[in-house]
Amino acid sequence: MITSTVISRLQMACDVVEIGVNMTGKGYGKTILFGEHFVVYGLPAIAGAIGSMTTADVEESNEYQLVDERPATPSYKKEKYDEQVESNKLIFDACGIKIDKVSLKITLGGDLVAASGVGASAASATAIARALNDHFGLGYSEDKINDIAYEGEKGYHGKPSGLDNTVSVFGGLIWFIKNLEGGCNTFEKLNMPKPVEIVLGNTGITSSTKEVVSDVKKKMDEKPDRFSDIFAQYERVVNKARIALIAGDLNDVGRLMDINHGLLQDILVSGRENDFLVEVAKDNGALGAKLTGTGRGGLVQALTPGVKLQDKVAKAIEAEGYTAYKTTIGV
Ligand code: PMV
Repeated sequence: MITSTVISRLQMACDVVEIGVNMTGKGYGKTILFGEHFVVYGLPAIAGAIGSMTTADVEESNEYQLVDERPATPSYKKEKYDEQVESNKLIFDACGIKIDKVSLKITLGGDLVAASGVGASAASATAIARALNDHFGLGYSEDKINDIAYEGEKGYHGKPSGLDNTVSVFGGLIWFIKNLEGGCNTFEKLNMPKPVEIVLGNTGITSSTKEVVSDVKKKMDEKPDRFSDIFAQYERVVNKARIALIAGDLNDVGRLMDINHGLLQDILVSGRENDFLVEVAKDNGALGAKLTGTGRGGLVQALTPGVKLQDKVAKAIEAEGYTAYKTTIGV
């Protein structure tokens, strides 16, 4: 239904002609299996969408309003609030809509827990971009939605690699290489023989991606030789991981995840709680475990094929007083 009020508001806001009302957009959460931080420097990463997502409902209202009803790690929403405001402005700008000229209520929801490491910012940027696309009848392609979600990510990350938004938009298991020249990134869907259960353990600590990424850069500038050696080791790991995932060799995937975690410790992005939860997962039979996402808090992930092992590892993490989420990758 298109009302004249809506049309005149729309004409002020952007130059499109068709719209819908009360639209809902969705964006997947994700887990990085291999390559957080390394991906920023043009090395390949592998990430998978998980079975939880963020939704964004857009409806007409008296004024612009953002209502955040996502389940979240306690400190997350407060700590990310300013970045979220900036991100939403960037999303509207990328759609050619002036945020201060629209009277829309955007309600964020869904079952993805907003926490560091699960792609919460990308999932919400994707969901909002999709909802605006439908609400204003913008007719954007999936690639364009991905571009807009990337703009939204900049509000949180400064200079994101583009990995999170790509997985959030396209889903599945993605092999991703950032184009350091600024052109199109390379990404490809990988097929695993069958989906596999994982556990995400939440340290409960919210970290700033912007700060941790810039700290890594500083450390790399101080010790370029050391970093180039670590980067070379990582590249061997991710290339083997790609082969192991496609072959369904989960023992090898787990072994490579452990090595990747060690390399993340070497570049100083793991934290005490990350290392502890990795140890709990491994002691309880996980085939591999590592931090996922920014690190220094946020989440860890454990490879736990079969619901029995998945339950065991999740319970062990919970027994230590942390929250665990059971999900699947490769769907
Ligand atoms: O914490 P997350 O889920 O937003 O992941 C950040 C991943 C980094 O590689 C550290 C940054 C990036 O832009 O890829």
